[in-house]
Amino acid sequence: MSPSIKENPVALFHRLAETGRAPVDFVLDGQALSALAGDTVLTAVLTHGAQLRRSEFSGEPRAGFCLMGACQDCWIATESGQRLRACGTFIEEGMRLLTGTGESS
Ligand code: FES
Repeated sequence: MSPSIKENPVALFHRLAETGRAPVDFVLDGQALSALAGDTVLTAVLTHGAQLRRSEFSGEPRAGFCLMGACQDCWIATESGQRLRACGTFIEEGMRLLTGTGESS
């Protein structure tokens, strides 16, 4: 079952439809989480929290802006050091992501 606003008040995105898609397990800052098949990385992360990363320049939290691949505001790192554009990358089973704010960052 997907988290609702009541269940996860810190999430920036709240799933209102298409809740029956297959689950996709991933890890964010060392924490096992679940998204749904067809979610972008941005959707997968922001249904569990309020940011993708902190700006390397200002330290301010970033969560994407355009949601369509134009602004470059949604970069997120994998544990292996790869950088992904979160709004244009589908979440994959076993993906391991870092926001730069968690225990594994
Ligand atoms: S949110 Fe703008 S490029 Fe991803």
